Amino acid sequence: MSPPGTERDAAAAGPAPAAPAPPAIKTPVTVEEARLRTILDSMVEAVYVTDATGRVTLTNRALEALIARDVVGRRAKNVIRSKELKRAIRRARKRNQATDVELESVIGDKIHSFHAQVSPLPDGEGVVTVLHDVTRLREADRIRRDFVTNASHELRTPLTAIRGFAETLRDGAYKNPTDAERFLDAILRHAKRLQRLAEDITLLAQAEAPGDDDEPVALDVRGAIRECAASLESFAKERDVRLSLELADEPLVLELSGRAFEHIVLNLIENAIKYSHAGGEVVVAARAAEHHVVVEVRDRGVGIPEKYRERIFERFYRVDKGRSRHEGGTGLGLSIVRNLVRRMGGRIEVESAVDVGSTFRVRLPVPGSVED
Ligand SMILES: Nc1ncnc2c1ncn2[C@@H]1O[C@H](COP(=O)(O)OP(=O)(O)OP(=O)(O)O)[C@@H](O)[C@H]1O
Ligand SMILES: [Mg+2]
Repeated sequence: MSPPGTERDAAAAGPAPAAPAPPAIKTPVTVEEARLRTILDSMVEAVYVTDATGRVTLTNRALEALIARDVVGRRAKNVIRSKELKRAIRRARKRNQATDVELESVIGDKIHSFHAQVSPLPDGEGVVTVLHDVTRLREADRIRRDFVTNASHELRTPLTAIRGFAETLRDGAYKNPTDAERFLDAILRHAKRLQRLAEDITLLAQAEAPGDDDEPVALDVRGAIRECAASLESFAKERDVRLSLELADEPLVLELSGRAFEHIVLNLIENAIKYSHAGGEVVVAARAAEHHVVVEVRDRGVGIPEKYRERIFERFYRVDKGRSRHEGGTGLGLSIVRNLVRRMGGRIEVESAVDVGSTFRVRLPVPGSVED
């Protein structure tokens, strides 16, 4: 790497971080420096060089974008605050040793995760630090780990129950027909729960995988809504909930996968019925709005406390775990719905008041119209 020169001085004095390299002066050194500057600035990794006194002598554009200020001439320990990094830079300077470190550091108001490579420069004069921002990667890892933990927990509950009932049967309960029937019913119920869980996990994976959609077709969504409501009519009756429709008189044509749309509507209606009181009412409405079709599912059920209103869209999240589990729910329903809605270019929102009821509203874009 080249020693400090005009290039760095210009960068230190320059007002904007994204300032292009100064016009090339045709001496071999400047050409070399310009080359180096271009290489550094085209890197996605943030780079900075420190001298023997621990001051920054050179940075690249990615570093300036990351920390949003010019740090040439400042002490390196104030650039990215991290004990591990400080130690690695010292090791490179004093013992001429290169190190890779994983670290976290607060920049602005956000915690960033980095993989840093710290190497001494050949001339023994300074140290170069290359920072890969792996914040997103770490976040994705965490989400994946949470998912596996939650999924295995959800799988374990019915499996433990099935095993327990089967063992009790084998140990003699099968001789008593009443017990035998009761335990077999329980096994069947838990097996169904497992099956549902497996199906929902597959559906979620499909809803999250890009490019896995059915071919969109032009569809009057009123027909699809009528069919969804009809298929849940007996469930509503069972719960003593009145299910009614408020559909626009004119066709509401959207271009989408009919299967995915039905999945959204079925899930929302099923929730509305499940979380209603006996004697309650669920209304499914659909109307045209500017550039959108709005589908609403309203209930007068238990409602959702404000603090949970965003969380209910997370995978496996249930406000009342006991109640949901009793219903055979997995807590994946709304996360699947939200993924499907987003893939259609739409939005979902919820309004709710405890013991008054909830309204889930889905806005789906009308083909060819401009988003408002
Ligand atoms: N209409 C509603 N009224 C009140 N609470 C609701 C309503 N819809 C969803 N919730 C809350 O949001 C949680 C998450 O809903 P979601 O549909 O994802 O899961 P679930 O209904 O429990 O299970 P699943 O949909 O997998 O059967 C529910 O457990 C419930 O606490
Ligand atoms: Mg649900």
